[in-house]
Amino acid sequence: MPSDISMTPEALKAAILDYKARLSVTVVAHFYQRDEVFEMADITGDSLELARRCQADESEFVLFCGVGFMGESVKVLSPHKRVVMPKIACCSMARMISSEYFDSSVAYCESYGIKSDDIMPITYINSSAAVKAKVGQMGGMVCTSSNAKTIITRALQSGKKILFVPDKCLGQNIARDMGLVASVIGDGTDAAKAHIICYDGFCSVHQLFETSDIDFYRAKYPDIKVFTHPECKPEVCEASDFVGSTSQIIAAIKALDPEQKVVVGTEYNLVNRLRDKNTYVLSSTKPECPTMNETTLYDLYVTLKAIDEGNPINEIFLEDEVSHYAKIALERMLAL
Ligand code: 13P
Ligand code: SF4
Repeated sequence: MPSDISMTPEALKAAILDYKARLSVTVVAHFYQRDEVFEMADITGDSLELARRCQADESEFVLFCGVGFMGESVKVLSPHKRVVMPKIACCSMARMISSEYFDSSVAYCESYGIKSDDIMPITYINSSAAVKAKVGQMGGMVCTSSNAKTIITRALQSGKKILFVPDKCLGQNIARDMGLVASVIGDGTDAAKAHIICYDGFCSVHQLFETSDIDFYRAKYPDIKVFTHPECKPEVCEASDFVGSTSQIIAAIKALDPEQKVVVGTEYNLVNRLRDKNTYVLSSTKPECPTMNETTLYDLYVTLKAIDEGNPINEIFLEDEVSHYAKIALERMLAL
């Protein structure tokens, strides 16, 4: 009998399918997961879809293959559920903001004469539960890349300034799209003159895409379409034909004529899964998300085995107060 560590991918897959058939577990995977992990999932989707669908799921365990903030969001929305993750990998953007940095961002706005009562905070879902809780406590909401425009539109109705954390690119892209003025913390511009004040965070993967990559593909294939994620730099999104969340990009590609060439600026695993003779990756490097890629088939197997043995590993637990206010911020989003 080989030890677990030397099991072949086929043996791991067979064992995973066996656990899934016997246990009350739903395996969930974001589009950026490795193919062999993604194939084992019962639920796949973008951040918003995963949050919604896990809330409606009835299994005892959600086994979340993704990054930490995604598993935390499931736990916040369904505190009775047991949420485990093969790897509690932390999205590099989510790590750029803590609750202390959130407080100093509010202080930054105040230094421009904006009272804290006149700030409507919005946090991108790529943030910790602690940051979501801060936002919920201040009357704000969460958004994802698929609903950011709707959420900002609603937030503007409050007549307040929007403090948008942590992704400056998403904030700037939405502002441009809606004809609003954005400033970025520390950029030297007058925050009081902006509609949206963005925190200075970003996604290290989506920063890889450059307008020179777009120029390269447009020169090579003049009729090519360029589809990008709103975490890309503003100038990259501005030069694109379509900007959307992971699910929206997939749907837009599927709606194209099969002979239409398209080049895609988002994480490698997603694009590679769609790749055919007409679909290209918008980078001369391999734009993989290192933290999404931490989860392997073996980790998935080990996590299921631990549940089967009655000793779950990597379970998500949150402080009651954090959970309470983070839930308010997430539910305000889901209500829209
Ligand atoms: P989506 O909500 O579009 O799936 O994006 C999540 C993410 O982390 C993109 O980098
Ligand atoms: Fe975070 Fe970027 Fe990875 Fe998305 S691609 S999970 S934003 S590091």
